[in-house]
Amino acid sequence: MDVASARIIQLPKIPDERGNLSFFEQNEHVPFEIQRVYWIYDVPGGEERGGHSYKENEEFIIALSGSFDVTLNDGVVSKKFTLSRSYYGLYVPKGIWRHMENFSTNSLAFVAASIVYTEDDYIRSYNEFINLNK
Ligand code: TYD
Repeated sequence: MDVASARIIQLPKIPDERGNLSFFEQNEHVPFEIQRVYWIYDVPGGEERGGHSYKENEEFIIALSGSFDVTLNDGVVSKKFTLSRSYYGLYVPKGIWRHMENFSTNSLAFVAASIVYTEDDYIRSYNEFINLNK
């Protein structure tokens, strides 16, 4: 997949004086069936997460709190997305190298994934990723 297939998806936002509410549903706001969710939190200043690609897994990443950057790279094009609103998510197709950085204090990265966790789906070597995409 190429980086151009990634996109920011705006989610419903129900404004309310009691506090706003947003949500997403599989196949409706997120273009895949969700088999897993995970979240990344308590990231020390200056740390990076990610730094790998998935063979099959697709993801939808939201900054539920705070902000962070997600950089996507298809081996040719690299693009950085800054996530800072809980009603915008980033859809990441399979086969894209990605890393996350610049986490603000108390940021919360929430990720919906299309497959259950399996280490076999990871490509953790950038050289291997580049060779596979040649
Ligand atoms: P990893 O995906 O490598 O983290 P990141 O991409 O954010 O740097 O996952 C870190 C560890 O957590 C790794 O040992 C696998 C484990 N893990 C699970 O067991 N289940 C999961 O759903 C995820 C995402 C990770």
